[in-house]
Amino acid sequence: MAKRLRLAGALAFIVTVSLLARGYDEQYRPQFHFSPRANWTNDPCGLVYAFGKFHLFFQHNPFENKWGHMSWGHAASSDLVQWNQLPVAIPDDKKAAIFTGSSVFDLNNTSGLCASRGGCIVSIYTGMTPKSDTTPEKQAEHLAFSQDGLTWTKFSRNPVLDLGRSDTRDPKVFWYQPGKYWVMVIVQADDKKVRLFRSPNLKQWQPLSEFGPRGATGGVWECPDLYTLPITGQPGKMRWILKIGLNPGHIAGGSGEQYFIGQFDGKTFTPDDANGATRWLDYGRDCYCALTFNNDKQPGSPHMIGWMNNWQYAADAPTSPWRGAMTLPRELSLASVNGSLQLIQRPARELASLRGEQFEFRGSSLKELNDKLQVWPHRSQTFELEVVIRPGDAKEVAWKVLQGSDDETVIGFDRAKQELFVDRSKSGSTQWNRSFPSNTVAPLTLGSEPLKLHILVDRSSVEVFAQDGAVALTNLVFPKATSTGLSLAITGGSIQQMEVRLWTLRSAWQ
Ligand code: FRU
Repeated sequence: MAKRLRLAGALAFIVTVSLLARGYDEQYRPQFHFSPRANWTNDPCGLVYAFGKFHLFFQHNPFENKWGHMSWGHAASSDLVQWNQLPVAIPDDKKAAIFTGSSVFDLNNTSGLCASRGGCIVSIYTGMTPKSDTTPEKQAEHLAFSQDGLTWTKFSRNPVLDLGRSDTRDPKVFWYQPGKYWVMVIVQADDKKVRLFRSPNLKQWQPLSEFGPRGATGGVWECPDLYTLPITGQPGKMRWILKIGLNPGHIAGGSGEQYFIGQFDGKTFTPDDANGATRWLDYGRDCYCALTFNNDKQPGSPHMIGWMNNWQYAADAPTSPWRGAMTLPRELSLASVNGSLQLIQRPARELASLRGEQFEFRGSSLKELNDKLQVWPHRSQTFELEVVIRPGDAKEVAWKVLQGSDDETVIGFDRAKQELFVDRSKSGSTQWNRSFPSNTVAPLTLGSEPLKLHILVDRSSVEVFAQDGAVALTNLVFPKATSTGLSLAITGGSIQQMEVRLWTLRSAWQ
């Protein structure tokens, strides 16, 4: 009897484990990007390193696969690769929906909300109270806190900042060490403004300054972030980055983000170039509300995660039982590129732990490369490609990925235009929303440098980083499950030399 019970128990375990595993194996399910097991997500929220883990919260509807019941979903990871989804951290209630915000680790218990000396997590978010027959919608900033990184208590005297408006949201809070106070950055979305406040204790906030309208103003401003980055190769030098979401009005259409490089003196953010061209965080269509971690384990090169989607069509995306995923965690730095400072984004180095089979090629023969790729037995829809190419006199150098008999995504460099593009117009299922099929383009001046591409493909996304992270393009795609073709096309001349390295990437969900 006991033996039979043990056997039944073991069988039940195997079935549960395989069901769980199968739960992350649907056709378009990202294998090394975070997506919730089920239901809707949009922005990442409250990214913080605390209690030995990276915590990723996310705008989540715990009940349905569409926007609504906004709450903070929660996942934690020790390496930014393997995520463990935990119970909802901050659920909505009758009074307010839980919109986007941030979390800090209150090491010195400045808030008085921490139970022990070791500090606690304080999360600051927008509480959105919908309009009623007699009152307009309200967006005000609220607190919730956690002693253990697993359960949260809403502060009894919420809201902590109420400007009496319906468009003041998405607080990013951080500790400003030189002044020894907390700074909160929020948007006044409809006015295309950022507003800054300070506090000694996260509970009482005084105004500091305002920024904007400035740069791109084609849509409401959302999801601001403000942080420092050291300048690579210039020891002791750093700059402040002010990043702002824009919906719509992005260069690629719909929602996207711009950033400013400048100085913050504890009160005011001043951009370096008064009337410079708009700097786009990512030239693809699917990187929005990207946030950096507070209290990052790697402060010199902080990590950022964005929502891999676009408000133009997110609600229609053909995935189930989940909808929405995050970009890869990216390591940020600042470098001088062609004489001006530029944000650099690289996929977190920890992702290399997922590398499996490897393919390598060096040479200049396109035919030889494509013949070898065609018979490589490990082609799949989850892989990483690193390429260095001297384009020679070629007019266009184009990688075709997720290629099938009638679908492909093209990642190309147009030498005459000095542009990098990702064309997903024939990438598989594209007709579920009119504005989905597209070709996204980023300026890329090669000079004497070779073209350097780092491409990460994860079933339903293609993230392209060029020139060591100086250019990023993130796009969703929905190819046929059998479309694993990969090839290079050269037009209008011949390339000089190329180095190709390719790895299959294992699933992070196993
Ligand atoms: C951005 C956003 C935020 C808001 C949240 C609501 O994607 O509109 O401004 O807090 O989504 O889910």
